[in-house]
Amino acid sequence: MERSEQDRVRIFDTTLRDGEQSPGISLNRQEKVEIAYQLARLGVDVIEAGFPITSPGDFDAVQAIAREVEGPVICGLARTSKQDIDAAWNAVKDAERPRIHTFVATSDIHIERKLQTTREDVKGQTRAAVAHAREYTDDVEFSPEDGSRSDVEFMAEVIQIAIDEGATTINVPDTVGYTMPDEYAEMWRRLYELVPGLSAVITSVHCHNDLGLAVANSFAGLTAGCRQVECAVNGIGERAGNASLEEIVMLLHTRESSVGIWTAANTREIARTSRLVSRLTGYPVQPNKAIVGRNAFAHEAGIHQDGVLKERTTYEIMDATTIGLEANSIVLGKHSGRHALRKALEELGLEVDGAALNTAFKRFKEIADKKKRVTALDLEAIVSDEMRQAPSAFTVESFDIEASSTRSPLARVRVRMPDGAVESGSFTGDGPVDAFFSALNAAVGHEARLKEYHVSAVTGGRDALGEVTVLLELNGRLASGVGVSTDILEASGSAYLRALSNALSDDTMAGAERLLEREAQTTSTP
Ligand code: KIV
Ligand code: ZN
Repeated sequence: MERSEQDRVRIFDTTLRDGEQSPGISLNRQEKVEIAYQLARLGVDVIEAGFPITSPGDFDAVQAIAREVEGPVICGLARTSKQDIDAAWNAVKDAERPRIHTFVATSDIHIERKLQTTREDVKGQTRAAVAHAREYTDDVEFSPEDGSRSDVEFMAEVIQIAIDEGATTINVPDTVGYTMPDEYAEMWRRLYELVPGLSAVITSVHCHNDLGLAVANSFAGLTAGCRQVECAVNGIGERAGNASLEEIVMLLHTRESSVGIWTAANTREIARTSRLVSRLTGYPVQPNKAIVGRNAFAHEAGIHQDGVLKERTTYEIMDATTIGLEANSIVLGKHSGRHALRKALEELGLEVDGAALNTAFKRFKEIADKKKRVTALDLEAIVSDEMRQAPSAFTVESFDIEASSTRSPLARVRVRMPDGAVESGSFTGDGPVDAFFSALNAAVGHEARLKEYHVSAVTGGRDALGEVTVLLELNGRLASGVGVSTDILEASGSAYLRALSNALSDDTMAGAERLLEREAQTTSTP
């Protein structure tokens, strides 16, 4: 089918900005850079790498991505104040193609209650912000926040100002996930009528999933003429999340002949991107999640299995290989050498050299000693597990857990502290994991509270690597951590201490605190 550039939908990925605002997600700089590299392999058009003014950690991560990751436009978010825009520019300016994305709320409820200002002031802020951003770059995006609940005539005036000042992309967010597909499409039609210059810029949709309509609303905006969609891998984001990247991409891919619009994303990288984001954020993917859930291509009913065996398309509208789920041929064993490991990692798109290769090799050997076959999925898990280890983190030196059906479990642990000292702790608990985590608290001297604990197997089989995700709360902060090992208790200990290290880290502002801080910043008049 003939594809025209006019019908190309740009994928604007906000996993590292809106996605990272999900409670408990606390990615460090290295993890953010790794996700950005994978997004580039996936072929997204724009990476919104962060909100640089919010913390030095966010600034550094955006800057590192701008300096290292080639291909996509690298974008930084800013409110309308000069300081925000300066910070966003300083963070992205070294990118091949930098973008500043500035926003201000246009709904009366946000203007009156949150910003405590007037419509006239919002117009002035828009004018000044876009003009200032344009002094730095000719790629400027403007968003009227809470656009879907704004008076459309007023929002049109604000958008007109942004275009007059040189904005090149206009994004209208459904910030609170309130709109419905027909309504959102109608809002766009009205905006096209009211703002003649709108057809000369890129128009963009940004929908939240509070009513489960984020993808449907985004699609409605695209059919109304928009050519950029803002979305996040696995649909992560504020509250119920953002429109899910993989659902949008596969919707446009699978139904291209009907809808006539397309994306340049490399669909074969979808499954791997989803696994990486899930691992590094500690947000598991629900089993029945469209496209990337583990059941998305599974058939339980006999009638369906029979049909698929006879002809796959009887019950499958997509081929699993299209999203990169083909059985990977990589299998290593305990006799595989460093060279074979490096080649296997390269095949997976992971460039690991020098000290990182040595560490990965050491870890691979430990696992290959316990497990006969080390597969592509195992390697991915091992490499991202190594990457999560921040230099300042606590680590489990040793543990000893007694569990029996006749007395309370007892755990004794030794933990290496960030300064190199080793501290001990012991505790009894309701179960072995409870005793283990309480002993870790005792050793590190912090009273973290466990909020969530998940165990999953990386592959099938009794010797599978176990992957543990922990979400805990410490001093009002939510933070998550993931650990991988053939031993579930070992994986649990690493996950717990990583979550604790994240909760205590300065440069990674986790969950609750980030939300409060963002709210406070948004309410102050810039
Ligand atoms: O949801 C929203 O309104 C946003 C804007 C900052 C674009 O994330
Ligand atoms: Zn948003």
